[in-house]
Amino acid sequence: MPDFVDTVVLKNGNRKMKINGSGIAALACLLLSGVVHAQKFEGLAKTPQLGWNSWNKFGCDVSEQLIRETADAMVASGMKDAGYLYVNIDDCWHGERDARGFIHPNQERFPSGMKALADYVHSKGLKLGIYSDAGWKTCGGKPGSRGYEYQDALTYAEWGIDYLKYDWCNTEGLKAEGAYLTMREALRKAGRPVLFSLCEWGDNKPWDWGKNVGHSWRTTGDIHPCFDCVEDHGTWKSWGVTYILDMQEGLRVHAGPDHWNDMDMLEVGNGMSVEEDRAHFTIWAMMNSPLIAGNDLRTMSKDTTAILTRKPVIALNQDPLGVQAFRHARRDGLEYWFKPLEHGAWALMVLNRNAEARKAGFDWKTEQVRDELSKREAAFGNTRYRLVDLWSGRSLGNTSKPLAAQVSAHGVLLLQLSAMQ
Ligand code: GLA
Repeated sequence: MPDFVDTVVLKNGNRKMKINGSGIAALACLLLSGVVHAQKFEGLAKTPQLGWNSWNKFGCDVSEQLIRETADAMVASGMKDAGYLYVNIDDCWHGERDARGFIHPNQERFPSGMKALADYVHSKGLKLGIYSDAGWKTCGGKPGSRGYEYQDALTYAEWGIDYLKYDWCNTEGLKAEGAYLTMREALRKAGRPVLFSLCEWGDNKPWDWGKNVGHSWRTTGDIHPCFDCVEDHGTWKSWGVTYILDMQEGLRVHAGPDHWNDMDMLEVGNGMSVEEDRAHFTIWAMMNSPLIAGNDLRTMSKDTTAILTRKPVIALNQDPLGVQAFRHARRDGLEYWFKPLEHGAWALMVLNRNAEARKAGFDWKTEQVRDELSKREAAFGNTRYRLVDLWSGRSLGNTSKPLAAQVSAHGVLLLQLSAMQ
């Protein structure tokens, strides 16, 4: 092929590379093979991710000091020991793009730079997450990644970022799947393993296409720190705990190891009652949602710490089977949710949606608890199960007698059922 046909000049930093026709064919093959074979970084969320995020409590008021102190508090509070790993900076960390298009953090808020901050977080045995948006601007009006995906992914890799939450504001005219795939490709090319958290609010059914794109996808709009209220912001609404739960209808079939339904960040410690916080945390654990704390870890109360670090409850969320809970029955404002666990065990959550305490009753012998998704059956007729209350740690006997227990207002009873030999 003569050299003058199809010759292009590629700019690579300050170097210019001349590529002729056969070079173009080779490059096309390379890119094509990249497209065909590229995939997300597998295995980063075999169980739902555990961490913290700045948004719910701090909004745009983020700084390197807050992130360092939060990393310290994550260790000191016992959260790291309970499995929490990611310290995530949400919106508004951004400064401007420079003349070459590279993004920089806000210099007043992050004077030491992101690399130094990542080094600090890593020195604590934790990982650092960051936030961007598929559109022109983030929801907070900062520079989005649209048109800069590869450059931003490279920058995050250079900084040592381990987690990217990718939002969906200001994306008019974009197709969600394509926009998220572009960033997945960019992260992959940048080479540093990054947990990719899709924050698209469920608008374009991310459960239908997100499995090979990211490790979790938001299923709803934003959470509001209340049990069963809706907060109307005019053009959008944010949702209390029970509303978000109800929006999960039909979604459990889409989730599993490395691809989770994300019910949004936790509001534990942000103003609900202790019973409500416990119910909120239990629901998120049962539903295999990522558990991303959203409160001030530096000043949290003993009750809040006890909820966030309750290992037997976290263990349900982290159960290797990765099967999301399902609602078995609803009576009298009480809901009975079951979650299959490894080794033939089960978890049962009785959720009291009423504003007053209620008696839960469950006659094991007459209930047919079967899960079509995991093909598991709790054969209470043939198998006796030992019952342990996972919040108090107390034994509640076994399934030979019907369950009768008081459940507090807006509270839960959470039991582990283990087959007796
Ligand atoms: C959206 C997201 C929130 C948060 C804000 C930041 O509303 O859903 O979780 O990231 O943007 O501006």
